[in-house]
Amino acid sequence: MGVVWNVNGQDLVVSRLPVFDGKHIRGAMMIILFRRLYDALRFGNRIVGADTQLGYYKEQVKRLWGAKYSFDSIIGNSLVLMEAKRMAWDIAGTNSPVLITGETGTGKELFAHAIHQDSPRKDGPFVVINCAAIPDNLVESELFGYEPGAFTGATKEGKQGKFELAHNGSIFLDEVGELPVNVQAKLLRVLQEKEIEKIGSSSSKPINVRIISASNLDLEEMSRQGKFREDLFYRLNVFSVRVPPLRDRLEDIISLSDLFISEFNRDAGTGVRGIDEAARQVLMNYNWPGNVRELKSAIERACLDAKAGMIRKENLFFITCKASLLLSEESLPTLKEARYEAERNVIQRALELSGGNRVKACQMLDINRTSFYNKLKELDIK
Ligand SMILES: Nc1ncnc2c1ncn2[C@@H]1O[C@H](COP(=O)(O)OP(=O)(O)OP(=O)(O)O)[C@@H](O)[C@H]1O
Ligand SMILES: [Mg+2]
Repeated sequence: MGVVWNVNGQDLVVSRLPVFDGKHIRGAMMIILFRRLYDALRFGNRIVGADTQLGYYKEQVKRLWGAKYSFDSIIGNSLVLMEAKRMAWDIAGTNSPVLITGETGTGKELFAHAIHQDSPRKDGPFVVINCAAIPDNLVESELFGYEPGAFTGATKEGKQGKFELAHNGSIFLDEVGELPVNVQAKLLRVLQEKEIEKIGSSSSKPINVRIISASNLDLEEMSRQGKFREDLFYRLNVFSVRVPPLRDRLEDIISLSDLFISEFNRDAGTGVRGIDEAARQVLMNYNWPGNVRELKSAIERACLDAKAGMIRKENLFFITCKASLLLSEESLPTLKEARYEAERNVIQRALELSGGNRVKACQMLDINRTSFYNKLKELDIK
């Protein structure tokens, strides 16, 4: 099979098959695969080229649809966080759906990435879909795709849904509590039947996808109130991981802050070295309703304010001015700081409400334009 055979002075690439009569070979049949050796070589080279290209595209797809974070990216040594990480790690190895819960900004997205990254599907795609960010009437076609010409406005080629893209990998349904009820019903069917049906299609296609979902809403309570399908809740919640709020793991604040400082220094070219003792006290005395996300932006703002050296309490005045601060002497702002922050807040709100219209904002705040412009400068509002 596939050998070079010289016929009349010309090298052919052929396969030869014997023809039997009972036990005896009576003759042979020859199939010419390539008339010239050169054609065979060229063909081989094309396959090697295509294979290299395929490898390249596979790598690209993985980068585009792959998980960006692993368990190592989840910083913090508090017991409660380690416990959540350990649970997530155990669950990662299974194929079951997992629901990640926790307040806003606790790191649910990091956990979702890490679970995929540590699962047997890690070489498959990781497709993220933010259920809250897609308009209700588009969710279904985003998730399941549609056939060519399925509805007015549908493209000629049709569309692949996110579930199809996630085949043999994981799909991350972020903010799953925001899914419209009719889509919840469809999703439930996909989970039960393990097949998807595109909009406008009469047949369904088997699909092998692991579902990771996340929500900062209490889905159990929502399903009790009829706002989320109870049967879907139980399907998504086979395993669950609760990411603890930052106020329950204050000991993580320093290592997280160090991470955010070095990230900020790297990106902004600043030279902030750390956080001094009084500033640490401020961070530890605050209850962080926006959790790690709020800490991250607080550190960035403080770095910008400090520029170099240590972050001091004065660089965190916008924290000390917040009402939700657990009161202690260290965390009390000066009157000047409190006024600065209050004025900055109210002017920013006025600008937001007026859509950036300064004349209107002046009127709302009942001040004249000259002092308004002076304030913008003084309070460093861009
Ligand atoms: N343990 C952690 N280590 C490092 N970075 C973290 C950690 N937890 C959260 N972050 C960072 O904090 C920010 C918020 O995290 P994330 O987006 O995962 O929150 P979330 O729980 O999905 O919030 P939401 O419910 O509002 O979507 C991100 O920038 C993330 O990288
Ligand atoms: Mg999130």
